[in-house]
Order: sequence, then structure tokens, then C-alpha cells
Amino acid sequence: MIVLGLESSCDETAVAIVEGNRTIHANIVLSQWQAHAPYGGVVPEIASRAHLEAIESLVAEALQVSGLNWSNIDAIAATAGPGLIGGVIVGLTAAKAIAMAINKPLIPINHLEGHALTPRLVEDIPFPYLLLLVSGGHTQLIIVEGIGNYRTLGTTMDDAVGEAFDKTAKILGLPYPGGPEVEKQAANGNPKRFLLPHSMVGTPHCNFSFSGLKTAVARTAATIEKSDIPDLCASFQTTVGDILCDRVTTAIKQFSGSHLVVAGGVAANQYLAQRLRTVAASSNLQFCAPPMKLCTDNAAMIAWAGVERLKQGISRSALNVIPKARWPLAEVSI
Ligand code: KG4
Ligand code: ZN
Repeated sequence: MIVLGLESSCDETAVAIVEGNRTIHANIVLSQWQAHAPYGGVVPEIASRAHLEAIESLVAEALQVSGLNWSNIDAIAATAGPGLIGGVIVGLTAAKAIAMAINKPLIPINHLEGHALTPRLVEDIPFPYLLLLVSGGHTQLIIVEGIGNYRTLGTTMDDAVGEAFDKTAKILGLPYPGGPEVEKQAANGNPKRFLLPHSMVGTPHCNFSFSGLKTAVARTAATIEKSDIPDLCASFQTTVGDILCDRVTTAIKQFSGSHLVVAGGVAANQYLAQRLRTVAASSNLQFCAPPMKLCTDNAAMIAWAGVERLKQGISRSALNVIPKARWPLAEVSI
């Protein structure tokens, strides 16, 4: 079973070809970050136009890299939301066209389901597992009970973690995208230098809030020298680590599986991954963080979600599916 996947919900145009036995035949990601960099964030109109310009040649490139041809493709999977609607429309419409042209089923995929199932593309992780999804758009704690069966324990009340990283970078004049830059600066800083707010820590639910932290970073940044930037980045990153560990520890109390999994772009942060690994170990859970290339937005995760859904016996095509800007994971059900 071989699935072609398309992803275009944010600022990466991505095409991948994945087989049911976990072979990734192609995984091409074209980042638009240079187009958005002057604005310090993703500009939706620029993103949709860039997807439109790139998607056709990326599909051709994926086929070429894989050494496969259209007759080898069993289904097309594409992100149908949530995300920036212009981009989602481009990817989903391209997928519909391909599905019609090669007469194979189209499987619409929720982008978050793609992130949620990524660990199973890497290894055979059993259900249920506890997922911490941390990206530029999302911060969620989810119990993945099975394909199309997700129980959300907590989410952010305001900003996403990745957004907090990006905004911190912007405030400090660091280049976009901010996450990796803040991590780099933090490596040379004193994490105890600045005391920052730990919103929601100690509360019995599993929700998050990062807007207070962002405001505190902005206020502190206005009072410091350039040479203090590493200290502020380290203090910020450590505070995020404290918050994530506290929230995950609270979630573990409501969970009875064997694995803690982290996914989403922020999972690329080595410091945070290490802290979460420690939390998992102290609760006797196995820890899994997919490789970076599969953690940030990509189409292999979309193709894989398509594979998982096909394996469940869903081969009905959905050419009439409507792209969605908002699409909570809880609404994805088989
Ligand atoms: O999953 P992703 O590629 O896209 C979304 O669906 O949002 O995540 C991108 C986010 C950005 O906010 C980026 O700053 C953050 O992940 N990120 C990081 C790191 N690498 C990427 N945040 C912290 N540390 C990193 N090393
Ligand atoms: Zn994502």
C-alpha cells in the first residue's frame, strides 16, 4: 500500500510518498520561511501563492526521487485542515485533481492527526499513548486511543508554545523562525538570571497559557543589554520546560498506557526533549520523539495518516470534502 501525501496548511509546501511497511520513498519539504522572514511571521496571502507556485513541481520531484510512477500510488492523502485556509485549499485541490486523474481514492487528513500518528511511522507504538503536541499553532495534550480516536486532555488558552518561541525571538531581534534561534542563544545563557511567570503550573487540569510569559519577556527585554540576550533566552526556555513538565506530569495521572510521545516543531528542541524524557522515565513510561524531519511540518506524516486510515478499511474517496481553517482533533472520528 503506497500513499502520496500533500501538506500545505502553513508555510511549508510538502509532498511525500510512504508505504504501509513504513518505507518513506520520498519526503520533500519546501520551506517558505525566506518569503515570510521580512515580516517576522507567516503572511497567509504570501503562503497560498507560494504553495500554488511550488506544489506541482514538488509532486513531480517526489515521484522522481521515489523511482515510482502513478500506477504504484494507491491513494492520495492531503491536509484538509486546520490551517491557513488559502494554503489548505491549494493542497487539497491539487490532491483532488490527482485523485480524479489517476482514479484513486482521496483521503482528507486532519493536520493534527498527522502529527499525532507520526510516532507510529517510526516505530510500532501501541495504543493508547500520551501525546504532547507542541508546534507553532498548537499546544495540546492528547491521549491517542486509536486511529480516529483522540481524547484531548488540555490545550492552550492563548498562544501556542512555538508562537511563544517565535515572539520571544522577534522581541529580541533574533531571526525568524525563532525557535531554533532561541535554543541556540539559550545554550550560552544563565537560566536562573530572570524569574518569569509559570502560568497554570500546579493546576489540576492540563491546560496551558503562554501570553503572560510572552508579556514578561517583552517587559524584561526592554530593560536589558544585548549581552543579556542569552540569559533571557535561557530563562525563557527553562520556564517553558518547567511548564511543559508540570502539565505532562498532571496528564500522566489520567493515563494508563506505556508511552509518552512528543510531536510538532517544538519537539525539535533538544533541551525540552531532554526534560520530557526525564519526566517519562520517572513515571516508568517509554519516551518517543520522532526525528526532527518528521517532527516539523512535512507530508510523510500526512501520507502515513492516510496509510493508517486505509488499513482501517476506509478506501471511500472524498472528493467533495471541504477545506477547513478550524478543525479540532476531537471532531476527527471514524
Ligand atoms: O510543527 P511546525 O513545523 O509547524 C506548525 O504546525 O506550527 O512547528 C513550527 C514551530 C515554530 O514555532 C518554531 O519556532 C518551532 O516549531 N520550533 C522550535 C524549534 N524548532 C522549531 N521551538 C523551539 N526550539 C526549537 N529548536
Ligand atoms: Zn504542524
